[in-house]
Amino acid sequence: MDMYEEWGKPDERKGRLTAVLALATLISTFGSSFQYGYNVAVVNSPSLIMQQFYNSTYLERYGQPMEENFLTLLWSLTVSMYPFGGFFGSLMVAPLVNKLGRKGTLLFNNIFSIVPAVMMGVSETIKSYEIIIVARFIVGICAGLSSNVVPMYLGELSPKNLRGAIGIVPQLFITIGILCAQVLGIRHILGNSTGWTLMLGLTAIPAAIELILLPFCPESPRYMLIQRKDEKTARKALQRLRGWDDVDAELSEMHLEDQSERAEGHLSVLSLLSQRSLRWQLVSIIIMNMGQQLSGVNAIYYYADSIYSTAGVKQNDIQYVTVGTGAVNVFMTIAAVFIVEASGRRLLLLSGFGICCGACVLLTVALKLQETVTWMPYISITCVVIYVIGHAIGPSPIPYVVTTEMFRQSARPAAFMVAGSVHWLSNFTVGLVFPFMERGLGPFSFIIFSVICLVTLIYIWVVVPETKNKTFLEICQMFSRRNKVEIKVGDGDLPLTESKESLEQRVKVTPF
Ligand SMILES: *[C@@H]1O[C@H](CO)[C@@H](O)[C@H](O)[C@H]1NC(C)=O
Repeated sequence: MDMYEEWGKPDERKGRLTAVLALATLISTFGSSFQYGYNVAVVNSPSLIMQQFYNSTYLERYGQPMEENFLTLLWSLTVSMYPFGGFFGSLMVAPLVNKLGRKGTLLFNNIFSIVPAVMMGVSETIKSYEIIIVARFIVGICAGLSSNVVPMYLGELSPKNLRGAIGIVPQLFITIGILCAQVLGIRHILGNSTGWTLMLGLTAIPAAIELILLPFCPESPRYMLIQRKDEKTARKALQRLRGWDDVDAELSEMHLEDQSERAEGHLSVLSLLSQRSLRWQLVSIIIMNMGQQLSGVNAIYYYADSIYSTAGVKQNDIQYVTVGTGAVNVFMTIAAVFIVEASGRRLLLLSGFGICCGACVLLTVALKLQETVTWMPYISITCVVIYVIGHAIGPSPIPYVVTTEMFRQSARPAAFMVAGSVHWLSNFTVGLVFPFMERGLGPFSFIIFSVICLVTLIYIWVVVPETKNKTFLEICQMFSRRNKVEIKVGDGDLPLTESKESLEQRVKVTPF
């Protein structure tokens, strides 16, 4: 990979995957990222049973069955409070990581998992569906925090030459979490009327394991050194992580990096919004993140069973088809890493959104013609699988990569703040609205997703340039006509000199 050759000094020692580093990676990703994926998919399989529970609880309380519209509303709230909580969680990242540290935040974050797990676990006993909805919000906070803090923690623990590889592990564990929830949701495992509360509550297990084991892992040495000014602890942590005693070079490098970042300063979200020279870059990442979520990828994980049931897949087969989709997702997340690394961003975005758009159109036709031939459900399943593959090669991973490439170090935290908020709020919208769309539009709900894919595709076609192997300055120049600013080096409202950026973090894949 060329990016390592660019920065690696010839005399630099190559970091090894020591036992401490491997354990910290496994514990934090299983304890946090895995849970994030698990809670995305966990409400899919037991959805009908849970809705019956909502209905019968209501009947018991008020002496009349729940109205259908109200039940749909409560159910879509149950699903979508999770990304809504994620939005708040992602806003809490900056204050928490600086106050409690990276490891400290991950440990603290388990409150937002264990408490709601208990709430969901006892919901049936105390006959309350409200408590499930509140618990989904809290466990969403946990996801919003961990989706940001785990990559940060691991990025700061890893030696440079392993940062790319270790950066993939959280993403992989999210997809494994989704798959695991789908497997446990099989009817004779836990997706039945006696198992569903246990299934919702199981999210506390990875949290408990993390709570017990993570304290033995070191805190980020970079955090100890820069924020806490505790060189002794930082040195010890680094020695454990690297497996050798001589860590002076790396410590002083951390100091240097910190100084150059300080010199560059940090753009606030507000000042980013007012930067003329970054305007269209900002619009582009907002549209790409909206396109990523509003194209309906999470509708497939939240409501898979309902979609397959509409498509005429036999009730008993649905659970296995759902598991199959989850397995394809895991596989494609691994494959995407290599594809994204090798290929241009623009091509992947265009083809990814194109494939998703086509798959949605075909799915609509298949759903519409479902009664005519017996094998139509297989066409529908194929459409969903093609959609998942299309999404995994472009719309899922690339917006993150492009955000890193379009903004330099000083503007990146603000850009990620904007991108993250758009991500969670769009995710929330899809979770909330999809059940109503499905009821109101039937097969045509997927036409909406295909239109969104098409609009995003056209925007990217017209506006977004190729960013692979381009410097920040070159990208700025490509946007300059649209931004109506003239770019001269060292001129304008922002310094345009290149800085040594953490390029090894450029490629990172999100599973959806
Ligand atoms: C709620 O339960 C009642 C009685 O079991 C049933 O008649 C009604 O259709 C259910 N309502 C919904 C919206 O499922």
